[in-house]
Amino acid sequence: MINRLLGKQKNQDSLVERVQQLQQKPLPKHIAVIMDGNGRWARRRALPRIAGHHEGMNTVKKITRIASNLGIGALTMYAFSTENWKRPKKEVDFLMKLPSEFLHTYLPELIEQNVKVEMIGDPSNLPRHTLDAIHNAMEKTQQNDGLILNFAMNYGSRAELVQATKQIVELVQSGQLSVEDITDETMNAQLMTAHLDEPDLLIRTSGEVRLSNFMLWQLAYAEFIFTDVLWPDFTEHHFLDAVEQYQSRHRRFGSVEGEQKA
Ligand code: FPP
Repeated sequence: MINRLLGKQKNQDSLVERVQQLQQKPLPKHIAVIMDGNGRWARRRALPRIAGHHEGMNTVKKITRIASNLGIGALTMYAFSTENWKRPKKEVDFLMKLPSEFLHTYLPELIEQNVKVEMIGDPSNLPRHTLDAIHNAMEKTQQNDGLILNFAMNYGSRAELVQATKQIVELVQSGQLSVEDITDETMNAQLMTAHLDEPDLLIRTSGEVRLSNFMLWQLAYAEFIFTDVLWPDFTEHHFLDAVEQYQSRHRRFGSVEGEQKA
């Protein structure tokens, strides 16, 4: 199975070996990725920025494939933030077409790989064609129980938290919840990620070291890995390097005793 799925890789043998080795230790259940550096990748080649985004889409395919083979539970990809509307219209239009291009060519493989497509973010002002492509993929993969490929589209963490807070206030006002009963779990339950494990690992490419309004609540205890590699240059090996680094870190979740290794 694994050989067939990784069959297109030149360095197939070493990838298969690495995957098997990493599977000996606990894996992150959920990996969140800030895919940054597409514009710089294009500029270095004197190409338009959209060429970088297109190449970035191909990286999404590679990383989805390897994450699925490794046995990761969920992969949340920051594909478009609530702030990205400020970009030139041509670039925004292109970014909005990427889900349909990606899913048009890749959906059969996602189905074969037992991947479940999901989305977080505000759908209300996404173009119809973008939503149609994502909804179609969600519908065709809803029975799958392998990797969850979760696209963050028109996603902003502050907006998500404001929305969750409003929902909690409504529950209190309608008498369904008392203020004393509000806990972390109350907030978790109102977030768009309510059904997912919290990310254990965040990867951000391109040398930027910030969260950019991405999963601020959910990443509270995640391990962070920042790499200088630009997203279009990010390979399966870079991804496996990040998982390896994660496995070598000690996660304490705020405690001292009973130190836990990832
Ligand atoms: C940030 O790089 C990247 C984005 C805003 C878009 C990310 C989208 C993809 C990688 C493709 C998504 C694919 C699918 C299937 C939805 P940047 O443009 O800010 O790069 P720069 O900092 O070098 O300018």
